[in-house]
Amino acid sequence: MKSFAGIKKINNKDWKNTMNTDELVIQDYSEHMLDEMMQLFYNTVHSVNAKDYKKEQLNNWAPLPLPADKRFWEQRLKKSVCKVAFINNIMVGFTELVDDGHIDTMYVHKDFQRRKVATTLINEILQIAEQRNYSMLTTEASITAKPFFEAFGFKVTQVKKKLYNGKDFTNYKMTKAL
Ligand SMILES: CC(C)(COP(=O)(O)OP(=O)(O)OC[C@H]1O[C@@H](n2cnc3c(N)ncnc32)[C@H](O)[C@@H]1OP(=O)(O)O)[C@@H](O)C(=O)NCCC(=O)NCCS
Repeated sequence: MKSFAGIKKINNKDWKNTMNTDELVIQDYSEHMLDEMMQLFYNTVHSVNAKDYKKEQLNNWAPLPLPADKRFWEQRLKKSVCKVAFINNIMVGFTELVDDGHIDTMYVHKDFQRRKVATTLINEILQIAEQRNYSMLTTEASITAKPFFEAFGFKVTQVKKKLYNGKDFTNYKMTKAL
């Protein structure tokens, strides 16, 4: 695994290569990535999450027109550690860790599901958590993401029926002791 200037190339078993030439690269978030991240977020919510949520809920979660919440994203990304994954220069996922050990986002490109992109991203988070001596990681997982977090030892501590832009929305508060 090579690492330089915030760019890490993954060449290990965690990353499921479908073509020998594919290379998963993890980069630290930079502002020029934001538009592509928001597009990935929108596309993933409206396709991958569509199996678990109603259209109205998806529209509230990821509203149009883009960039609907750009200022909100800019502000929150300044306060978090954000890692972004690329395969052959295509953005394929991102995750954010905020100061208290909370994983705030985990989104993988709709066309790159189940190829261990999120596994690679969460391994980055786990490394950072270890460096910072966190004793626990938390997240609020969607219905869709719950099996992924369970695969990494997260346990549901609360089923949340929260309001998302004023609409009812189920997700799970999950924690993992480190
Ligand atoms: C949840 C998500 C991030 C997982 O990303 P991914 O790159 O496809 O996940 P991985 O390939 O790394 O999966 C690792 C393991 O997690 C588990 N897993 C992941 N997705 C799963 C699913 N839909 N059903 C069951 N298990 C799943 C499996 O054990 C999987 O290993 P396997 O493929 O060898 O069986 C992705 O599906 C996604 O973007 N979902 C929509 C956005 C979302 O809801 N994000 C969370 C917001 S809170």
